[in-house]
Amino acid sequence: MRKIGWFLFSLTISFSCKQPDPALLEAYQGWKTYAGSKDGLRYSSLDQINAGNVSQLQVAWTFSTHDKDTGNRSQNQCNPIVVDGILYGTSPRLKLFALDAATGGQKWLFDPAAEDTALKRDRNASLKVNRGVVYWQDSTGTDKRIFYSVGEKTYAINASTGQPVRSFGKRGFIDLTENLDREKDFNPFIAGNTPGIIYKDLIIIGARVAESADAAPGHVRAYDVRTGERKWIFHTIPHPGELGYDTWPDPDAWKKLGSANCWAGMALDEKTGVLYVPTGSIGGDFYGGIRKGTNLFANSLIALDAATGKYRWHFQTVHHDLWDRDLAANPNLVTIHHDGKTIDAVAQISKHGYVFLFDRTNGKPIFPIEEKKVPVNALPGEEPWPTQPIPTLPKPFARQHFGPEDVTDLTPEVHRSMMERFNKIKWGEPFMPPSKEGTWIFPGFDGGGEWGGAAVDPESGILYVNSSELPWGLTMIDVPEKGAGDGSLKGIGKGVYNRYCLSCHGPERKGNGASYPSLVNISNKYNEDGLRKIVENGRNMMPSFKQIGENEKGALLAFLLNTASKEPGSEGRKQGAVAPKEPGGLHASELASPKVKSILDDIPYTMTGYNRFLDSSGYPGIKPPWGTLNAINLNTGELVWKATVGEFEELKKRGIPATGTQMYGGPAVTRGGLVFLASTQDEKIRALDKKTGKILWEAKLPAAGYATPAVYAAAGHQYVVIACGGGKLGSKSGDEWVAFALPDKK
Ligand code: HEC
Repeated sequence: MRKIGWFLFSLTISFSCKQPDPALLEAYQGWKTYAGSKDGLRYSSLDQINAGNVSQLQVAWTFSTHDKDTGNRSQNQCNPIVVDGILYGTSPRLKLFALDAATGGQKWLFDPAAEDTALKRDRNASLKVNRGVVYWQDSTGTDKRIFYSVGEKTYAINASTGQPVRSFGKRGFIDLTENLDREKDFNPFIAGNTPGIIYKDLIIIGARVAESADAAPGHVRAYDVRTGERKWIFHTIPHPGELGYDTWPDPDAWKKLGSANCWAGMALDEKTGVLYVPTGSIGGDFYGGIRKGTNLFANSLIALDAATGKYRWHFQTVHHDLWDRDLAANPNLVTIHHDGKTIDAVAQISKHGYVFLFDRTNGKPIFPIEEKKVPVNALPGEEPWPTQPIPTLPKPFARQHFGPEDVTDLTPEVHRSMMERFNKIKWGEPFMPPSKEGTWIFPGFDGGGEWGGAAVDPESGILYVNSSELPWGLTMIDVPEKGAGDGSLKGIGKGVYNRYCLSCHGPERKGNGASYPSLVNISNKYNEDGLRKIVENGRNMMPSFKQIGENEKGALLAFLLNTASKEPGSEGRKQGAVAPKEPGGLHASELASPKVKSILDDIPYTMTGYNRFLDSSGYPGIKPPWGTLNAINLNTGELVWKATVGEFEELKKRGIPATGTQMYGGPAVTRGGLVFLASTQDEKIRALDKKTGKILWEAKLPAAGYATPAVYAAAGHQYVVIACGGGKLGSKSGDEWVAFALPDKK
């Protein structure tokens, strides 16, 4: 095996132009946190692998947990961490493991099902994605812990043994649905997805919540790493008397509404103790009549004192969001050189394809951000905000316009049929309010930029961000049959469906492409018990619906299984079905007036689903590129290069140049001159020249790497590792990890 000496030698030979800053080399050698470092840069100062030798990369080790699901729905979005030669990561079923980072050999594995009876009973219960884990150790290095979330539980696991730390929280975990400073009258769906961040002896946590108006509040919380005690909370929906409260004309908004959550990770300036928190939109994504005002602190980058949670400054990137424009990635803290000054900056990428850049000490934009007038013709009851902030620089990294001239022309037939569909929707400028005629959301609901985030090279100040370019259609309808309808059990069940399920599974239960399955004839697949479990526990990207009362649930199940017309106890149940609690013995009259008044009752419209504009072969209905990697100079705001990344074999065979593909997952940039990026539908990982965007190397993965690579050194070798979980965009699921390194020189 090659020795460290060779490794250091290789570090020095490539610094032909500039002397290395030893502090910088030291700071970015490891991958000890999600996104590589607490400043969120996805940067490694390692350069053993460089432009000259990257073509020789080969598989160094693989590791599999063999727990993907067979329906190609499980995913693995984990960006692992490496501490003292041990790699910590998670599997599709959210098992946590520790590996020898040099060999992939397993040291221990923690299965959350061992701790959780609901998980044990239903393998899919609370099976949510997890993007990484957090490491903490005490000052003596004797107490070492891994924090990670499985649904609403954040566990503290002994990093040496893989056992829960029983003195933490409730015998090993904290419950994120508790301690939110509100009555527990909200939708209890909360899932820790992107990991939190450590500041001294605090772990600071955000989470995914439901998308509906009754979602849990997205408040940011800090806990004592030893005890799990909550130390501070920042109300992202301000309480009376707090800053931002007056951006809500409804004085009770804070008691009714949820979300404004940080689900995509944070960044921490350890020197100043300032935490940078990006938030998502307010629940009830597409209708704001029940939440008038700008809605602080939704869609905002918020700077907080990490020790206390005290407010420093904020910037709202979308006012009164009607388009689900969450800030979907962690911010990047980088020092830039602008106008002859050295500025500690914070960059925030967005789903709509912008980079917002601020002086991080005071929140002042580096380049002017203009409040631009936007359309306000909206559905009755809606009050769109008349302006939106648009950065003058950098220019957006994704196209902003989708017109008839942009509709795909892969073949004349495809063009014709897609033009027909295009013309059905009132084509939109950015920020066109949702309407019954429909609007194009472009970049789509999943960006533009997404949770994969951006990588930044701190030496050059260049930011690398990958982007999907696909329009999604957004069409609103009146909420059909909200109440009991005709008063029958089925009618009531339909009402429940319309209230909770329609937005994803569609008005006719037909679902929506690969992402949202059809529920038509669902009785062929599930009996009542099986269906009940899915509704109560959720599954993969589907949230759980614990808040639906027993009676309403019974009616819903009867509606979906089409059993409502049958008398309780009669035939018609599937073999092996557990005797139903409902609809047995339940009378429609009991349901006529729903017991719990919900904010959902005040919402007159719903969307018809998340409609990707894809042709019959699954290709985007817009002309390529469909996926790009962009290099943006943060010092000047200039685009340095744009590369198309990803391709489809069958289009290549037809002589069509690389189109790029939709992407999930982000890049990692290295001092060795490379940007590593998997993320594409072609199940490949690539290395691009960070100066030019030229693709220098690529390798096929066992399943799509919809995750962000980590770069680290162990036993004298530099490694690049990626989770290959697939399970989105029609890709098969996987449960392997693959690490690449250079071959040994004998
Ligand atoms: C936020 C979007 C969303 C909402 C709202 C939603 N679902 Fe789902 N649902 C999904 C997704 C995504 C899947 C696929 C899950 C997977 O990967 O296994 C799914 C899967 C299912 C399945 C399994 C289908 C199959 O073929 O295996 C059932 C049944 C189901 N949902 C029922 C419901 C019901 C009933 C409701 C309302 C109470 C509901 N869903 C609300 C997104 C949603």
